[in-house]
Amino acid sequence: MIVVTGATGNVGRLLVESLAEAGHEVTAVSRGVSSPVPERAGVTPMVADLSDAGSLTPAVKGADALFLLVSGAGAHVDGEAVLRTAADAGVSRVVLLSSQAAGTRPEAVSHAPLAALEQVVRSSGLEWTVLRAGGFTTNAFAWIPSIRAQGKVFAPYGDVALPAVDPLDLASVAAAALTGGVHAGRTYVLTGPEATSPRQRTGILGDVLGVDLEFVELGPDQAREQMLRLMPAPVADGTLEILGQPTPEEVRVSPDVAAVLGREATSFAAWAERSAADFR
Ligand SMILES: NC(=O)c1ccc[n+]([C@@H]2O[C@H](COP(=O)([O-])OP(=O)(O)OC[C@H]3O[C@@H](n4cnc5c(N)ncnc54)[C@H](OP(=O)(O)O)[C@@H]3O)[C@@H](O)[C@H]2O)c1
Repeated sequence: MIVVTGATGNVGRLLVESLAEAGHEVTAVSRGVSSPVPERAGVTPMVADLSDAGSLTPAVKGADALFLLVSGAGAHVDGEAVLRTAADAGVSRVVLLSSQAAGTRPEAVSHAPLAALEQVVRSSGLEWTVLRAGGFTTNAFAWIPSIRAQGKVFAPYGDVALPAVDPLDLASVAAAALTGGVHAGRTYVLTGPEATSPRQRTGILGDVLGVDLEFVELGPDQAREQMLRLMPAPVADGTLEILGQPTPEEVRVSPDVAAVLGREATSFAAWAERSAADFR
């Protein structure tokens, strides 16, 4: 049995589907706050809060593997307690969804908790794999209200290009690492197949939707104000740094998705085609 935390989010939802599709028994963990776990054969929804490690005990009982996804920066999670709870229940393999910035900016207030959690995972005594994700294609979902209402996209740093990764690719790599031993002890950097700027992504979305979308560049202060509605200040500040002043590594396309999956990573355009209905 495989336990998936963050089971109703961008990555977890797809991971639950893919594991269940492949015939695995899945325990799908969330707090049950955001949305319910869809009913599906082989999937058992469980309510637990990662900030209270003990609440995970019923979910991990008898499990072989754990997908660990901590929301936001993860500062609220006692990783040692979570992994001890999992190991005590018989879990032998853990796959952590981390961020590329845990490697490129381990000292930043925004990403230091994830960098620390990576270390806890690596020294847990469990078989581990760390997935360092670049920015998600699904961050463009934040544009839905203004696209629907005004046909406009408001975003900062319009011409800074980054290789956004499709959560479906993250879920596929996670499924491979959860179910096969060859990924043990590996840290993967997972990005999309090409760097695109917010202005280019706006153009791609417009083409897919068959509408003219106007790109409106926000100043960093305006963008920060918007982001504070969705995330804590340290995460907003850290994210803005990456969007505006990426390091050379953050701009580069990583070969790891293709190496693990044996196919190219999914492009922003392909993600947009698949997600078009959400924007209409
Ligand atoms: N977005 C990016 O560009 C980006 C880039 C790199 C890394 N990341 C990392 O990706 C992760 C976010 O992934 P995502 O977009 O798939 O998540 P998401 O869509 O925001 O969903 C979060 C999931 O976690 C659950 N959850 C939230 N708080 C919880 C808690 N305390 N205990 C148990 N479950 C909890 C939520 O359900 P309930 O609310 O019902 O509990 C939901 O299932 C974060 O760790 C972030 O650092 C994101």
